[in-house]
Amino acid sequence: MDERPIGVFDSGVGGLTVVRSLIDLLPRENLIYFGDTGRGPYGGRSLEEVRCFSIQIVQWLVDQGVKLVVIACNTASAAALQEARARFRVPIIGVVEPGVRAALKTSRQGRVGMIGTAGTVASGAYEDAMRAMRGREGKGDLISVACPRFVEFVEKGEVWGAEISRLASMYLMPLREACVDTLILGCTHYPLLARVISDAVGRHVTLLSSADETAFEVTDILVRTGKDRRGLGLGWHRFVCTSDTEHFRLLGVQFLGPEVREVAFVGF
Ligand code: DGL
Repeated sequence: MDERPIGVFDSGVGGLTVVRSLIDLLPRENLIYFGDTGRGPYGGRSLEEVRCFSIQIVQWLVDQGVKLVVIACNTASAAALQEARARFRVPIIGVVEPGVRAALKTSRQGRVGMIGTAGTVASGAYEDAMRAMRGREGKGDLISVACPRFVEFVEKGEVWGAEISRLASMYLMPLREACVDTLILGCTHYPLLARVISDAVGRHVTLLSSADETAFEVTDILVRTGKDRRGLGLGWHRFVCTSDTEHFRLLGVQFLGPEVREVAFVGF
């Protein structure tokens, strides 16, 4: 039994999609969420810069006494997962491998697409993870496409409308042409755009977010190491961000739900 909270971070509100799955699966766990809204989006920044921000945030979470960190951001997972694991003693979970694992389980014909930020696509992290796992699990091509402007819409609270639909149909054209049967939402903001994405790519394509698979991985680790809060009451949830806290709170209520009551400011 370990009462300490789980730490979760993202460049903004996208990681709340992972928090939703974590709270649903692990309602007794305490949780601290860090949204780096003051410096996000990360997608257009260099991987080196994202690595520095990520290490700084993991350090902050570790200083708060977390027992495990979830990097609920694909761009930060691609840039910093290895280094964070080497530097810190708490278990650190990224979202890339869980997404690939889910896709390999789901895809019927092995025609898998991935959409993410420019940084995630350029990093090749999904291709690497796919190559590493394909050996064990059999099948899978990967067609990766960057959707650079999606995040800015989500961070404004806009998840549908003519402009975003036009962008989606333009970005997703190569995936339609490649006849993918499964599409990994390789950015934690994108599940919030699932309707628009599904309209653009076609209803026959299975959309996969890594949120649930990541939450299962966290559960496995906590249970295996005896660090879950089994048998205790419901956990508390604390939210911090690095810019306008009221804007974050309103988006948090819209995207996550009533768990987002107060949001505190953290200045870096
Ligand atoms: N939600 C993030 C991701 O999964 C970051 C998006 C961004 O900041 O550009 O990549």
